[in-house]
Amino acid sequence: MAVLQYAESMQRITDMERVAAILAPLGVGVREIPVMAAGAAALLAQAQLDADAQAALLAALDDVFQRLQREKGYQERDLVVLYPGHPQLPELDARFRRIHTHEDEEVRYIVDGEGVFGFVLEDGAQVELTVQAGDYIHIPADVEHWFRLNDAQRIKAVRYFSARGGWTPHYTNRALQHFPGS
Ligand SMILES: [Fe+2]
Repeated sequence: MAVLQYAESMQRITDMERVAAILAPLGVGVREIPVMAAGAAALLAQAQLDADAQAALLAALDDVFQRLQREKGYQERDLVVLYPGHPQLPELDARFRRIHTHEDEEVRYIVDGEGVFGFVLEDGAQVELTVQAGDYIHIPADVEHWFRLNDAQRIKAVRYFSARGGWTPHYTNRALQHFPGS
């Protein structure tokens, strides 16, 4: 279940229709796709997955990939697995926590754990969207956003691609406002 929060505010919006309506003017799409990875519950429960386990989990989630291939034309997918103590965590955090854009769209399906995406609304207000297992998010190219993990530092997310490349973050140097809990 996605939760949206405005900077400097304790108000939390959990109604998916309201969340989607707030983000729609940016072209950002968010919806729920229940995680039904047949036989993969044990893989989802593990914090870390080796390459074989990642491949097995992706295979278990292939229904969603095939559906998105038909709907959106995605060609490839892979799995991001982050957990406390992951050796690249500080580097990734520094890279994506700043407000940035990409030349390609950013598409994620969260299948375990949580992450936080941030956006700048058309009126300049900043919001953070906590995404959890079962949340699917699509951020178009060139839309300002950021990403961070929350305190649990644990997420498994499938990334879908139309084409490889376009992932270098372009920093817009806009200052991030304060979010409770960030
Ligand atoms: Fe990004």
